[in-house]
Amino acid sequence: MLRGSRCFSVICDVGPTTTPYSTSTLPPNPQPKTAIVTGAAQGIGRAIAIQLASDGFAIVISDIASKQDLMDVVAAEIKSKNAGSQTLVVPADVSSEADVNKLVAKTKDTFGGLDVMVANAGICLANPILDVTIQEWDKLFSINVRGVLLCYQAAARLMIEQKRGGRIIGASSIAGKKGGGNLSAYSASKFAVRSLTQSAACEWGAHGITVNAYAPGTIETPMLHDAEATIITPSGAGLISQLKASTALRRSGQPEEIANFVSMLASDKSSCMTGQTITIDGGIWFD
Ligand SMILES: NC(=O)c1ccc[n+]([C@@H]2O[C@H](COP(=O)([O-])OP(=O)(O)OC[C@H]3O[C@@H](n4cnc5c(N)ncnc54)[C@H](O)[C@@H]3O)[C@@H](O)[C@H]2O)c1
Repeated sequence: MLRGSRCFSVICDVGPTTTPYSTSTLPPNPQPKTAIVTGAAQGIGRAIAIQLASDGFAIVISDIASKQDLMDVVAAEIKSKNAGSQTLVVPADVSSEADVNKLVAKTKDTFGGLDVMVANAGICLANPILDVTIQEWDKLFSINVRGVLLCYQAAARLMIEQKRGGRIIGASSIAGKKGGGNLSAYSASKFAVRSLTQSAACEWGAHGITVNAYAPGTIETPMLHDAEATIITPSGAGLISQLKASTALRRSGQPEEIANFVSMLASDKSSCMTGQTITIDGGIWFD
């Protein structure tokens, strides 16, 4: 081994702090629990924000600035469903370190801390490998991978400082479990989310922070309908109908079905679960 280098176990190197963590040793948190959801203007992120608000979290709804109106609609919907719920809308581009740091700082200023980070924002690119341009690759990775890294880092820094643990949750995909034709860059980015989730779980577990991800299959959102319009399947059949036929349940999923799982991940019910990327796809991919 080189002098000064550290030996990293492939199983799980938890870093320098290895003291077992117990929630019972921590002081109670006097503030309401707070969750940030990125990509929350529509689709899965919107459903997660609404679900976590009904679970009692103060919710920070974040998305790119051009989705300000949609974010405001989500905030209004939350308030109309849950009297007294607290929401904050913060436009942020997750590929920008400055934006993500401001998002977390504003959350701390407004609600006094952070308990749950849902790094949901992502984009999809459907292209044969030979057609993927460097610009497309870099854009996809800047959002789907760097964006998740930045959200994980900023959340963990605050959670470690707070000393009350936390939940960090990322968006992978069944494309992060198995590569597929015309999805090379997207699939690679979602594999990256899985490995980042595993490494973060190892490094931050000693601080009582769990890190998990969801891996949706075919969920009815604007992203899926955009993909339907651009992806040509080998058989020529529509993407959504082909994907539905390939599920054990013979149907696509709804954003609320991902939100239900995230609700469990964000709660104490998932206290012994970390480093996992759980498939929710109606039965396409079996781990
Ligand atoms: N819908 C599916 O079938 C499916 C399947 C597998 C994985 N996913 C993943 O789930 C997540 C949510 O997907 P969705 O279907 O709701 O997609 P969507 O396109 O409907 O919503 C994604 C949201 O992310 C936002 N976003 C994009 N770039 C951003 C950036 N740079 N900064 C901040 N926000 C940004 C968009 O504005 C949009 O509101 C994504 O990470 C996606 O890859 C979705």
